[in-house]
Amino acid sequence: HDTNTAKAPVTVTLTGAGGQIGYAAMFRIAAGDMLGANQPVRLRLLEIPQGMRGAEGAAMELADCAFPLLAGVDITDDPGAGFEGANIAMLIGSRPRTAGMERGDLLAANGAIFGPQGAAIGAGAADDVRVIVVGNPANTNALIAQQHAPDVPASRFTALTRLDHNRAVGLLAAEAGVAVSEVDGVTIWGNHSATQYPDLSHATVAGRPALDAVDASWARGAYIERVAKRGAEIIEVRGGSSVASAANAAIEHVRDWVLGTGTAADGVPRRTSAAVVSHGEYGVPEGLVSSFPVVSHGGDWEIVEGLSVDVFSRERIGASVAELEAERDAVRELGLI
Ligand code: NAD
Ligand code: LMR
Repeated sequence: HDTNTAKAPVTVTLTGAGGQIGYAAMFRIAAGDMLGANQPVRLRLLEIPQGMRGAEGAAMELADCAFPLLAGVDITDDPGAGFEGANIAMLIGSRPRTAGMERGDLLAANGAIFGPQGAAIGAGAADDVRVIVVGNPANTNALIAQQHAPDVPASRFTALTRLDHNRAVGLLAAEAGVAVSEVDGVTIWGNHSATQYPDLSHATVAGRPALDAVDASWARGAYIERVAKRGAEIIEVRGGSSVASAANAAIEHVRDWVLGTGTAADGVPRRTSAAVVSHGEYGVPEGLVSSFPVVSHGGDWEIVEGLSVDVFSRERIGASVAELEAERDAVRELGLI
């Protein structure tokens, strides 16, 4: 009896599948790392014409892996075909900033990508579609896509801050000299940018408050800077932006969203961070795609409410949210939403 063929395949659309993060993600997805070892997947690789050869080559390698869970691979440069019936849409491909490009140029170039992709998701994706935007500027790209799919519940549009979250956990564990599994309750607030706020106010290390386990001035100084600028640090050291860690974070985001964040050994719900559409929680204006402390159960992200926010945290959250508002206003002025 083959349990792998008993379940209907889930359709996962990857945009930018000919690029680096797409390449790092697709083999793990096909191996079952994202949706589980009993869940067949069908991959849709969506590219632009220049990226089609890269996607085709990757698809050849997927075939050469003979993954039992991989029910099929389609490659297209048509967003309509790419999102038709998609259950999971991972929007990785975007327009990177190049020399001489102003912020407005970048937002406009990405608006031209994420507007039509959002519309195609609205028109043809499955009723249970879940969208994760990885391509930068991720939060505002997610907002643009969401605004072009008015018939899809806004809660289905999210952006990736799990990489920032994982960086924050890893750096805290290293500083405290504990295993990452002993760190809990870290939150990334705001934008996936240098203004993000990695917050240890409610974090614990081996069961005790993180702010007692590490130097509090480090936690609210160098640590924040290090996490927020880790992307730039990787670029400097590696000579290219993060790839495998970004793919890993996107896979963990979808895995937790679909399968749930679960509870720790002591029965306390496990928290993580994700950028989701605000309903006004913690004073973040309604409609912005901002990172929050979240849990997932029953297939939905839920913002963890009721955490105390001190003056320092309020200021840091406010600064990142102000940047999100400025990005939203800029894309509005450009007529992109
Ligand atoms: P890459 O340049 O290697 O690949 C991007 C791919 O996207 C290319 O193959 C390109 O052809 C394709 N593409 C461009 N426009 C497209 C469109 N309209 N439809 C479909 N495909 C399209 O880049 P990468 O290293 O894979 O990074 C992808 C994005 O992820 C970048 O924007 C990067 O800044 C971002 N990123 C985000 C995070 C995060 O934590 N949110 C982390 C790392 C990287
Ligand atoms: C990252 O966080 O690694 C990416 O968003 C790359 C970048 O430009 O910072």
